[in-house]
Amino acid sequence: MARELPIGVLISGSGTNLQAIIDAIEAKRLDAVIRVVISNREDAFGLVRAKKHNLPTEVLDHKKFPSREAYDQALVDILRRRQVELVILAGFMRLLSPVLVGAYSNRIMNIHPALLPSFPGLHVQKKAVEHGVRFSGCTVHFVNEGCDEGPIIIQAVVPVFPDDTEESLAARILQEEHRIYPRAVQLYSEGRLRVAGRVVQVEGLAKDDSQVLTNPPLKG
Ligand code: GRF
Repeated sequence: MARELPIGVLISGSGTNLQAIIDAIEAKRLDAVIRVVISNREDAFGLVRAKKHNLPTEVLDHKKFPSREAYDQALVDILRRRQVELVILAGFMRLLSPVLVGAYSNRIMNIHPALLPSFPGLHVQKKAVEHGVRFSGCTVHFVNEGCDEGPIIIQAVVPVFPDDTEESLAARILQEEHRIYPRAVQLYSEGRLRVAGRVVQVEGLAKDDSQVLTNPPLKG
């Protein structure tokens, strides 16, 4: 049996990406075990999802800490106590300080609903629609001290249509998030990711150069 990678998932809200990871583990597509789900908000629906699957949960309210560093140290303490090897940010709406990034260097992943380095930050689906880009998508990356800046692991591309709204684009992107996040974690679990500067090498990948997309299409 493959080794199960011990992960900790940090959330603030709905937790659909957490759900996708739980589902991938249960379907045996992901060799990982969720050691803890931590939320900075006690009303995060992701906590309900975690409890339904009998996963350990903790609520760590950032408002009860004097500084970002103190909060992050408390996170590190929980993650270490639970022997977490890889930290998964799944809609965790907080910037990380060097206390957490340094403790888990190249061992924290985040998912962002745009094709980084385009559209970092917040409300990026709205920004993509307003900008008139023809494609957007999502990115799983390792977390460094910058905002949405770390080495890119996997991306998925979706088309943007003229009648898209922020909501319709967000829904299209979210579907792909649920496919690529478990895959990124599985690549890590298999030991296939090597970080060299800002580039992540993925071992043993089949190259497919037939996947060129145009939008609008060349014909029609
Ligand atoms: C996703 O759009 C993700 O890209 C962003 O926050 C959202 C989290 O959604 N980082 P959920 O809580 O996983 O449903």
